[in-house]
Amino acid sequence: MRKGRDMERNAELEGKEDVTILAIESSCDETAAAVVKNGRTVLSNVISSQIELHKLYGGVVPEIASRKHIEKINQVIEEALSQAKMQLKDVDAVAVTYGPGLVGALLVGVAEAKAISYAAKKPLLGIHHIEGHISANYIENPDLEPPFLCLVVSGGHTHLVKVNDYGVYEILGRTRDDAAGEAFDKVARAIGLGYPGGPKIEQLSKQGDPDAVVFPKAKVADNPYDFSFSGVKSAVLNYINGCRMKNETIVAADIAASFQKAVTQVLIEHAGMAMEEFGLERFAIAGGVASNATLRNGMKAACEKKGIRFYHPSPVLCTDNAAMIGAAAYYEFKAGVRHGWDLNAVPNLKLGER
Ligand code: KG4
Ligand code: ZN
Repeated sequence: MRKGRDMERNAELEGKEDVTILAIESSCDETAAAVVKNGRTVLSNVISSQIELHKLYGGVVPEIASRKHIEKINQVIEEALSQAKMQLKDVDAVAVTYGPGLVGALLVGVAEAKAISYAAKKPLLGIHHIEGHISANYIENPDLEPPFLCLVVSGGHTHLVKVNDYGVYEILGRTRDDAAGEAFDKVARAIGLGYPGGPKIEQLSKQGDPDAVVFPKAKVADNPYDFSFSGVKSAVLNYINGCRMKNETIVAADIAASFQKAVTQVLIEHAGMAMEEFGLERFAIAGGVASNATLRNGMKAACEKKGIRFYHPSPVLCTDNAAMIGAAAYYEFKAGVRHGWDLNAVPNLKLGER
């Protein structure tokens, strides 16, 4: 893997006005490809979801995810190029998520991107999945530029990040245990809603009372920006068991609404603290949980109170997709980042590492 401006062809490309990137994403259960121009204009965004398949097992089965990616990836890439009315020869670079994520799933995308870039003689860029989620905000918001604060809430990650510049991240806080989306998924399973839990909890919450049960909002002593969601998840499970033992009726909608309130309030409180401390003018949210309307509305209200501009991607750009990888890749490309044929999947890749 390398970062550098050492290839003549790359130097030529850096001077180009328009940069069009074919991006590939396969880190979890979505096989996705997109064509993105100049980091902000999406020419195509094709997503083949495996959700229906994994539903049968109540969560993502890594082995099945890898096999499904292998089946779908060529079709998805062809479709992305065709919708963009382009051929491989027309793109300037090939970008792919190389971590974090499920290793077998990531390897499918990485191997595919390497093969394509080698065959078509295009530069190869490995992209961090979370950098992709953050960059999803650039797509529909032409005015959004660093510095800004970003709350990344997905199934695998919960990070409060200060985006100092394109590709330059400072992590203020992260989860010590479960990710926010993971907590949604686990609570959904406990109240019999199935996978993926987030959208189902959100839907059911509409019929429930968010003040019916008070679930704890965990604080982490040594870093006020860190999160912990395993406590609230256990509190929900204990509450359900308690009701069962006392033969009390379990009102799933009330549990869903109360749990959603507890989680979103913690996220909003931490975000509010960061807004106060850093005094930046912009705040963005990203990741699958960012499509949750309670979180979005709460964050919007918190930002408005402080006179801060609030950004969020459309739901389809919140959950996993390749357009966000293409957006991130454009700024990495401009910074001269290129990877070699030794690019590998890095399941626990840290944000900011290249
Ligand atoms: O970003 P993402 O697609 O994949 C990861 O990188 O993890 O996020 C998926 C997560 C799942 O845990 C899912 O339950 C959650 O995002 N999610 C939601 C909603 N939509 C998806 N959580 C709460 N409310 C939603 N509407
Ligand atoms: Zn994701």
